[in-house]
Amino acid sequence: MINHDRLLTKFGVSMKFGDKYIPLEKFNKMREESLKNPEKFWGEQAKCLDWDKTWDKVLEWNPPYARWFVNGKLNASYNCVDRHIKGSRRNKAAIIWENENGDCRTLTYYELYREVNKFANVLQNLGVDKGDRVAIYLPMIPEAVIAMLACARIGAIHTVVFSGFSSDALAERINDAGAEVLITADILYRRGKKINLKNIVDKSLLDCPSINYVVYVHRDKDNDIKLKEGRDYLWDELMKGAKKYVKPVSVESNHPLFILYTSGTTGKPKGVVHSTGGYLVYVTKTMEWTWGINDMDVFWCTADIGWITGHSYVVYAPLSLGTTTVIYEGAIDYPNPGRIWEIIENHGVTILYTAPTAIRMLMKYGEEWVKSHDLSTLRMLGSVGEPINPKAWEWYYEVVGQKRCPIADCYWQTETGGHIIYPPLGIQNIPLKPGSATFPGIGIDADVVDENGNSLPPNKKGLLVIKNPWPGMLLGLWKNDVRYRKAYWERIKNCYCPSDYAIKDEDGYFWILGRADEVLNVAGHRIGTAELEHVLVSHPLVAEAAVIGKPDEIKGEVPVAFVIPRKEIDDKKEAKEQIIKYVRDTLGPVAAPTMIFFVNKLPKTRSGKIMRRVLKKLILGEDLGDLSTIEDNTSIEEIKNELSDFV
Ligand code: WTA
Repeated sequence: MINHDRLLTKFGVSMKFGDKYIPLEKFNKMREESLKNPEKFWGEQAKCLDWDKTWDKVLEWNPPYARWFVNGKLNASYNCVDRHIKGSRRNKAAIIWENENGDCRTLTYYELYREVNKFANVLQNLGVDKGDRVAIYLPMIPEAVIAMLACARIGAIHTVVFSGFSSDALAERINDAGAEVLITADILYRRGKKINLKNIVDKSLLDCPSINYVVYVHRDKDNDIKLKEGRDYLWDELMKGAKKYVKPVSVESNHPLFILYTSGTTGKPKGVVHSTGGYLVYVTKTMEWTWGINDMDVFWCTADIGWITGHSYVVYAPLSLGTTTVIYEGAIDYPNPGRIWEIIENHGVTILYTAPTAIRMLMKYGEEWVKSHDLSTLRMLGSVGEPINPKAWEWYYEVVGQKRCPIADCYWQTETGGHIIYPPLGIQNIPLKPGSATFPGIGIDADVVDENGNSLPPNKKGLLVIKNPWPGMLLGLWKNDVRYRKAYWERIKNCYCPSDYAIKDEDGYFWILGRADEVLNVAGHRIGTAELEHVLVSHPLVAEAAVIGKPDEIKGEVPVAFVIPRKEIDDKKEAKEQIIKYVRDTLGPVAAPTMIFFVNKLPKTRSGKIMRRVLKKLILGEDLGDLSTIEDNTSIEEIKNELSDFV
C-alpha cells in the first residue's frame, strides 16, 4: 500500500505531512461553483471556444445521457486552426514533428490550416459527408493530425486505430464503425526498423466491405506501393488537385467528433463516442487548469494518437489553445536511452506529459542520460495511464524536473474525455503527495463507495464513482446502448463507475489503486482479459484459456495465460512461441502474453466461472483465500506444479 506518511511537496519545498497548508481557496471556490451551478459555470467556460451559434441550454441531463450546449453550433477544426491564423499565432509552430533519425518537420498554424483544408477537400472528393466514418491507421506523423482535423472540418467522424494494432483488430474497428474511407501509410518506423503497414491493411481489407477508398501516405520512396485500381490512392497525388479552402461545417454541439475503441470486460472492444462541443470545451479547460498554458509553451505528450491521451492532449487541447505540440515518431529510448531528453533539449519543451511505465524504464537507464542534457526549459510535468509509484514519482520530480517542476498526476479514461482527478496547477500551486492524483477536478463530483453505493470513510478502499455529468463525458457507445448502460451505470446506482478502486485520504486526496474489473493495464494500455482469451481460444492448439495480470517492474502489469490444449503437446516451447506470435499478429504486440502455462484444468466455481483471482494468487505465491466455491481442487495442485519453476 501507498505510504501515507509521505512528504507533501510544493514546487521544491518539502513540507512534512500535516504541516501548514497552502489554502486551496481559489480552486475550492471554482470547484464549489462548478458543482453548485453547473449550467452557469460551464456556460461561462464554453466561451473558450468560438461558436457559430450559442446554445439554447447548457445541459440536458436525462441520466445516463448528458447533452451539453444543446443547439449550440461550432466546428472543431475551426477552433483548432482557423481562429489562430487570424491573430499573432499565424506563424507560430502548431506541430513540431521529429523521428528517430532526428528528421524534423514543423508546421505553423498557417501551414496546418492549408493542409487541413486541402485534405478536407480530398475527403469530400472521395464522397465523405457529414456523419460518415473515416478510419485513420497512421503512425505518429503530422498527416495523422491533418486527417483528424480534416474529418472534423466536414463533420465526418474519425476513428483512429492505433498503428501497433494488427489486421484483425483494425478490421473489427472498421467494421463496427462502418468506416467508408481508410487513411493509412505504407510503412512506419520503429526502433530502426520499417514495419509494413500495407501488408496489415491488405489483410484487414479482405474483411471490410464498408471501405470504398484507401488513401496511402507514401513514406518509403524506395519502394512503390501496389495500389488497387479504383480503391487506393496516394495522399500526395490527391492533395495536388485539392481546393485550398473548405468552409468548416458547423455542427450541433452533440454531433460526434470521433469514435475511439477501448477494451472492456467482454470480448469486443467498446466504441466510445465523444461529442464536439462538450468534449472540446472540456479538454481545452482541463489542459489550461492542469498546467496553466501560455504562449511560450512547447507541450510534449508522448502518447500515441491512437489512444485517448493522444486525441485529447496531443491534438485537440493543445491546438484549441494555440499551443505548440510535439509529435515524435519512434521509441523514446531509441537509438539511445537519452533520446527523450535530447528532444526536450532540441525543441525547448516546457511541459512533458508521459506515463509511469516510461518513467520507470528511463529511471533504469540511469540519471547520467538525463543529466547530460539541458532540461532547463521544463517548467511542469505530467503523468498518466496508471498509478505512479512514489519511487518513480520522486525520480521524475528530482532528476527530470530538478525539483523545480511540479508533477500533475492525471487520472482519467477514454470515456471521460479529459482529466477528472488531477492537480489544477494552472489555477494555483497545490501541495502534491507522490502517488496521489490529488482531488476531483472542477465540475467533478467524485466519491469512493462500497459495492452498494455507500460512501466510505477516509482510507477505506472502494470503487471510484462520479455522481454528476461533465462536458467531456462520453455520449455513449457506438450503436450499443445496452452495453453503455451496463458498462458504466449499472454497477453503482445513479453514478458513473469507471471501474477503478480508490481510497480517499483524511485530507481529501484521492489515490487510485487499479482496475476493479477484468481489464489489465499493460504499460498504460487497457487490455480486456476476455478479448485476449477470445483470441487465444481461436488458435487451433487452444481449447480453453484464462488470462491474468502479473505485476511487472516496468510495465506495471503483463498478461499471463493459462491454457488447456486441445491435444497432447510434444514441444511445449514451440507451441508457446506459436501462440504468442499468433496473439501478436492478431491483437498487436501490447497484448502478447509474456508467459503461457499449459494445464489440464482451470480453477472454476461450481457455476463454471473461471476463478482468475485464484490464478493470480497462485502466480504471486500468495495465500489462496476462500476456496469454498471451487468445483475441483485438483486443478490447483496441477497449476502449482506447473508454476513451481517460476514462483
Ligand atoms: C488507468 C488513459 C491511476 C485507470 C487516459 C483508468 C490511471 C485507465 C491514471 C484508463 C492515473 C489512467 N492514475 N490510474 N493517473 N490514468 N489510469 O482509457 O485504470 O486508456 O481507468 O485512458 O487507466 O485508460 P485509458
